[in-house]
Amino acid sequence: MSIRQQQSSLLPVPTGALQISDVSEITPASTGLNSHSSVPKKTNTVKFSLVVPTYNESKNITAIVEVLSSLLDASIPEDYELIIVDDNSPDGTWESAQALMPEYPQLRVMRRTEERGLSTAVIRGWQAGNGQILGVIDGDLQHPPKVLLQLLSAIERGADLAVGSRHVEGGGVSSWSAVRRFLSRGAQLLGLVILPQVVGRVSDPMSGYFMVRRSAIAGHTMSPIGYKILIEVLGRGNIDQIAEVGYVFQERREGESKVTWKQYIEYLQHLLKLRLSRGRIGRLQQQFPIGRFLRFGAVGLSGVFVDMAVLYLLHDPSTLGWGLTRSKIFAAEAAIINNFFWNDAWTFADMSSQQRGWRKRFKRFAKFNIVCLVGLVLNVLLLNILYNTLGVHYQLANLIAIALVTFWNFWINLKLSWRVTESDN
Ligand code: GDD
Ligand code: MN
Repeated sequence: MSIRQQQSSLLPVPTGALQISDVSEITPASTGLNSHSSVPKKTNTVKFSLVVPTYNESKNITAIVEVLSSLLDASIPEDYELIIVDDNSPDGTWESAQALMPEYPQLRVMRRTEERGLSTAVIRGWQAGNGQILGVIDGDLQHPPKVLLQLLSAIERGADLAVGSRHVEGGGVSSWSAVRRFLSRGAQLLGLVILPQVVGRVSDPMSGYFMVRRSAIAGHTMSPIGYKILIEVLGRGNIDQIAEVGYVFQERREGESKVTWKQYIEYLQHLLKLRLSRGRIGRLQQQFPIGRFLRFGAVGLSGVFVDMAVLYLLHDPSTLGWGLTRSKIFAAEAAIINNFFWNDAWTFADMSSQQRGWRKRFKRFAKFNIVCLVGLVLNVLLLNILYNTLGVHYQLANLIAIALVTFWNFWINLKLSWRVTESDN
């Protein structure tokens, strides 16, 4: 690859969980720039990764890259990266951005073609970034770029999160209609009712202009819906100190806002989801994935029916009339195949989608099979101990054994058969 090509190549789109890695885990390959070189370079951590999410901003892209670069070049030269994350805009924003790369060495461009949406765009950009501080700014120049420097220094002075706010001193909106102001404040109020401990921590929870210390969100899986990424960061991160800097939300000069009624619905969904995950059930869920376990149980039940049906077909004198042991072995294996199919497509669907291909699938199947067979042995063993040694009634003993083995099967399969490893990504 020639140097020029290398300079203008797009960032690979991270896949899998929306989780930021620790700075210490950053490898040179994650920049996408030297993934083909055989000599591993030292990790290239920088102070600041600034993500600019864009959708149809081709009229603004040159101006925003120019102004952000000159600001940051003057204050932290070469110690930052500017990451444009474009969702394959029909107006070719990503192409215009890519064309600027030779001129701006700190500029990176990501073009997403599968996943969409503002919040996930921001997280994917941060994932690809190597900064100790992660920031976001709109790509339409509505956020005054200079405020960046104030936000940066707030973090350097110890804040975990620095938020550009329209509702503190020095903040405001340029010429919003009464209706728009009302909607914006209404949304904030709704947030205060549903999620007071999160939304109430900042004066402008709707802000899309902020930065956060990487260590405050690293390792936490994000799961935002829609536009309001700040709420997600506040809700799931380890945010202790918060700083706010006033800014005046500028009018858009070029292009159009992407906000429609859909964003209001998504906002409500997002609030409710965060609320649930922070409630008692959510906390329990972090220790034990209840939903997944229930699905696993339902699949197990379907397996019992498969087992019974196959046993009948093979063993019953009115059908094939095979010997009992031989029939049972086939019946059990049929149940295992059935269960694997449903678990792979449903119970652990999110995990299998990260490990595509027939070979990986077969590996999961082989592991599942072994785990279930060991489970069967355990089942017989437990039944014997409970019945013969502890004198438990045989039906009750069987029930206890089944329950324990179901837990075993679930847990080992979760951690062994479907576990996503580094090499899967
Ligand atoms: N990659 C990507 N994907 N970018 C998107 C998408 C998307 O689906 N939707 C919007 N963007 C980009 C836009 O191109 C722009 O750079 C930025 O995200 C904000 O989108 P706008 O549509 O301009 O939003 P706005 O001006 O109404 O809202 C702004 O103000 C709010 C405060 O009232 C944003 O800054 C919000 O984040 C902020 O909360
Ligand atoms: Mn805008």
